[in-house]
Amino acid sequence: MKKICIIGAGRVGESTAQIIAKEELCREVALLDITEGVPQGIALDIQQSASLLRFDTRVVGDTDPAVMRDADMVIITAGFPRKPGMSRSDVLEANLTIIDGLVDHVLEYAPDAMLMMVTNPVDVLTWRAWQRTGWPRHRVFGQSGALDTARMTSFIALETGYSIKDISALVLGGHGDAMVPLPRFTDISGIPIEHFLDDDTIEQIAERTRQGGGEILALKKHSSAYDSPAAAIASMVDAIGHNRRRILPCVSVLQGEYGQNDIAMGVPAVLDENGLVKIIELKLNERERKDFERSADMVRHDIGLLP
Ligand code: 2OP
Repeated sequence: MKKICIIGAGRVGESTAQIIAKEELCREVALLDITEGVPQGIALDIQQSASLLRFDTRVVGDTDPAVMRDADMVIITAGFPRKPGMSRSDVLEANLTIIDGLVDHVLEYAPDAMLMMVTNPVDVLTWRAWQRTGWPRHRVFGQSGALDTARMTSFIALETGYSIKDISALVLGGHGDAMVPLPRFTDISGIPIEHFLDDDTIEQIAERTRQGGGEILALKKHSSAYDSPAAAIASMVDAIGHNRRRILPCVSVLQGEYGQNDIAMGVPAVLDENGLVKIIELKLNERERKDFERSADMVRHDIGLLP
């Protein structure tokens, strides 16, 4: 990719810009934010790390939405983060107006881009962005499952003591307290997780995964997580930019898959140079299906609140 625009120069946007620049996932990173001086200053700061970290990526920042002109990908991180005690749905109303306005700018300045939603509640806002753009769903998707799965993977590595490089986990559903960690699709070097951990421990890890964002928020108090979300975004950008055809859980608009319509939520999907090109439908067992449907009901409830 030549150009990626990151909207929102908060902590998630800044960390994402750093990783994308450092990993040279595109030629130019453009940061957009509404506070004069902030995106410019952050861009300059990252740019000045280039000789030390050995990257050629150009980083620019601006408050003018025209900075996103002709971006190949736009990543929306802007909006109000939740505060301790709030759910992701609690910030829907505040963030909806922001997202609607930003999507209109994307339509004007980057009409051929792919759009990755990160702002919460990410499932609902991905759905909204998809509807508002009128673009095919392979170009509008959201980040959540890569992060939730990374959290589950790290908890398993901490619990077992085995290398995180050998652990493969999967979390589907909405990015909320009803997300669906799937131990049946989780293994260490191909060996099912049940071989290493008893049921109670697996359930504790699943629950800690569901509360993963909240745990960090409760500890930090004034900020949500941003290092791991940024790494999750970058993993999706890398899959797309390098045409890797990786299978990652992504917020996808569902058109009949998993028995769901009129919704966007986390499912395994194939990412290549054209975006989210395929949804993988797993055969869920009774309990997994019920959990998935419960999660879908919660996302659908919030979609129903949209004006
Ligand atoms: C998280 O899970 C902020 O939703 C984000 O950390």
